[in-house]
Amino acid sequence: MTTITLNNGVEMPLIGFGTWNVRGTSGERTILTAIEVGYRLIDSAKMYGNEEIVGSAIKKSGVDRKEFFITTKLDGSYTSYSKAARGIDESLRRMQTDYIDLMLIHEPYRQSPEMWRAMVEAYRNQKLRAIGVSNFDRSFYEKFIAECDVIPAVNQYEAHVFYCPLELKKFFESYGTIFQAWSPLTEGRRDIVNNPALRSIGQKHNKTAAQVALRYLTQQGIPIAPKSARRERMIENLSIEDFTLDDDDLSAIRRLDEHRSLFGWY
Ligand SMILES: NC(=O)c1ccc[n+]([C@@H]2O[C@H](COP(=O)([O-])OP(=O)(O)OC[C@H]3O[C@@H](n4cnc5c(N)ncnc54)[C@H](OP(=O)(O)O)[C@@H]3O)[C@@H](O)[C@H]2O)c1
Repeated sequence: MTTITLNNGVEMPLIGFGTWNVRGTSGERTILTAIEVGYRLIDSAKMYGNEEIVGSAIKKSGVDRKEFFITTKLDGSYTSYSKAARGIDESLRRMQTDYIDLMLIHEPYRQSPEMWRAMVEAYRNQKLRAIGVSNFDRSFYEKFIAECDVIPAVNQYEAHVFYCPLELKKFFESYGTIFQAWSPLTEGRRDIVNNPALRSIGQKHNKTAAQVALRYLTQQGIPIAPKSARRERMIENLSIEDFTLDDDDLSAIRRLDEHRSLFGWY
């Protein structure tokens, strides 16, 4: 599996498994299947209510903990230094692990700098291997990093073929922060499977439209963590490293970009 090097030297898999809406016993089975077919990065969050099943699936898989890259996120219930410090310990306990590979601040909270202080401390105490943020736009990120002594390793942000802010990616990277995509398949908001441009590029490479949409991101150095409840799609989404989109493909895909969020949260 290809990895990308974070600003502190930690290697993060380029392709991971998203777990939004993956819950309960069936969710645990889904995560176990994802591990079985080869996923090692699991993207969780306190907000998803599934840190326990991520931890138990990893234990049950029998795969060495060291092979995994576990991401989770602190949400709005931890918006102070002491709450964030407690939140980190709670995530460790729920995930049955001594360390988390990447902890993110889930959204731009006013108290993010305080939360970050607790995260930096946990990072220095080796409870967290890397720390980052999510959904921080340019101006929030700029103000935030002016106050912190550890630059976020990652900013997890919306990106897919219909909205791929490459300028923003460049901007975050100029400070050393990797731009990681969330909802790389639009969470199903757009019919990627039947998109004529993606299908035709897929036919050329003997790949599906979804594979083309995902490859577009990874080929530009954007890590992804698509979610699927179906084994065959999990495998499909992992099998995108054996083809390369050419310049014509890339220009055709760029024409799909609507230059605005499909979600509009921020
Ligand atoms: N940081 C944040 O604020 C934030 C926000 C949103 C998401 N995320 C993270 O990003 C992850 C991915 O985003 P997401 O779950 O919103 O959506 P997504 O991965 O963009 O799309 C998932 C949808 O696509 C379908 N799908 C998956 N593979 C497919 C394929 N090969 N062909 C056709 N359809 C396919 C899935 O259906 P089936 O399950 O039926 O296959 C599901 O409906 C999340 O799970 C979460 O971990 C983070």
